[in-house]
Amino acid sequence: MPVQLTLCRRCTRNRPEFRRTLAQLANNYPHDLAVEELECMAACDDVPAIMIETDYYPRVPPTELIRLVEARIIAERV
Ligand code: FES
Repeated sequence: MPVQLTLCRRCTRNRPEFRRTLAQLANNYPHDLAVEELECMAACDDVPAIMIETDYYPRVPPTELIRLVEARIIAERV
């Protein structure tokens, strides 16, 4: 099963570095990562916030996005 990453499209559309990082992750892990982009994920005060499966992470910079997603993918493979 791919790791589910959920984020808000509206809150991230003007964050080009975040969007580039997201595209890079999707490209690097096409079978291990499923990205769901919502119009609002009720995290407007924590931009950019993400959810990995049911875990919530507020104010995630691109480097942290990579670290969190890769750590979860590795953990799921074990
Ligand atoms: S509009 Fe992005 S979390 Fe609400």
